[in-house]
Amino acid sequence: MKLWSGRFKKETDSLMDDFNASIRFDSRMYRQDILGSAAHVRMLGECGIISSADAQLIRKALFEILDDIEKGKIEFDVAAEDIHMNIENILIDRIGQVGKKLHTGRSRNDQVALDFRMFLRDEIKAIKALLIDLESILLKLSENNLDTIMPGYTHLQRAQPITLAHHLMAYFQMFRRDIERLNDCYRRMNVMPLGSGALASTTYPINRMMVAEELEFERITENSLDGVSDRDFAIELASCLSIIMVHLSRFSEEIILWSSLEFGFIELDDAYSTGSSIMPQKKNPDAAELVRGKSGRVFGSLMSLLTVMKGLPLAYNKDMQEDKEAMFDAVDTVKGCLMVFNRMLDTMKINKSCMLNAAKGGFTNATDLADYLVKKGVPFRDSHEIVGKMVAYCIEKKIALEDLTLEEMQNFSGHISNDVYDEISLDACVNGRRVPGGPAAESILVSIKSGKAFLDEQKK
Ligand code: ARG
Repeated sequence: MKLWSGRFKKETDSLMDDFNASIRFDSRMYRQDILGSAAHVRMLGECGIISSADAQLIRKALFEILDDIEKGKIEFDVAAEDIHMNIENILIDRIGQVGKKLHTGRSRNDQVALDFRMFLRDEIKAIKALLIDLESILLKLSENNLDTIMPGYTHLQRAQPITLAHHLMAYFQMFRRDIERLNDCYRRMNVMPLGSGALASTTYPINRMMVAEELEFERITENSLDGVSDRDFAIELASCLSIIMVHLSRFSEEIILWSSLEFGFIELDDAYSTGSSIMPQKKNPDAAELVRGKSGRVFGSLMSLLTVMKGLPLAYNKDMQEDKEAMFDAVDTVKGCLMVFNRMLDTMKINKSCMLNAAKGGFTNATDLADYLVKKGVPFRDSHEIVGKMVAYCIEKKIALEDLTLEEMQNFSGHISNDVYDEISLDACVNGRRVPGGPAAESILVSIKSGKAFLDEQKK
């Protein structure tokens, strides 16, 4: 029998039961549901709304159910619709009449809002831990590649020499902001909605703070309509997760490029690569491609949630049940991607000489030659023009700028003297850029240090 069958004369059609039920996916929140119910019933007892003997009995039975679910002893029932009513049914089966007191002063509307917040809070912690792991790998790789010179690109054309550490520390900054965004999101999620009731709270003298404290919430929601209607916390998380996926996807794109024969900058470990069923020579970067591809699923979840919510009148509407699968898929996808991505990154081989050779080609020191002329008193616009002509000359002769003889150089500008070769060496180009944020080893060391301090803070 359904927990709400009182006003009905007929059973629901089994097709409707199936369509309406969420137990297939929301059973994942069993733990949060039980912990929430346990806190609620303790509060009912302490506030004298039910007897403390009843409260204790219910609480004990709830924890036994939790244990049995974890041991795989319990099968949920589609006819009981969702995780909330499944657990309440099991409780009543086990302890009879007393179990029927659990739902006093509560609605499934505030219950599901509570469970979902608790569930996503846990997921944020798990995703944050994976991001911290990724950041530690980036710091380690950067420390080992402070002088690994490679070309920096704009328009995917070789632009100026940088180091691999500089490039990797750019990703460090992105994922650092992602962690900070998750911290922010957590703070707004960590607000306790129970006590909102169906929409208009309750007349029972409940103590909402007591429940909040047991469940480690920072605050309680301030409006009962908002408490049951709000899904911003999920939308905000989906948006944080989408940005994480943008970052992972761009990084993956580079890994895919870098592992091609054309670049040859890195080689992925066999354990994180795949072969072809027809071409015996192939070694494919499937892990990175999947991460790039899976970003679409996470953006899709964000779109689903925004669309589900945008036209809903206050307060709860059943449409909101659609929030769960989208969020579950988003958190699972991000966790799955990070787990593989971290290992793939940690085990890849870096081909320093390929990176250096690429930086030597493509006139990546042209800006530095122009800057050299400026130091000798030539206005920048003129020096830009002069070096442009020198580049055109070198393209014709198929040589690099530093391969020009001094006489050849002086044909373009009388301001050039023998010191030019040192000034336009790749090492000088990189290590001359000592400004904060620049690629010089000493600048990167500063940001590695601040990165370490940030991670230590986050691990607390
Ligand atoms: N399974 C429902 C959901 O996930 C729980 C809340 C149901 N509330 C209701 N009034 N039908 O949204």
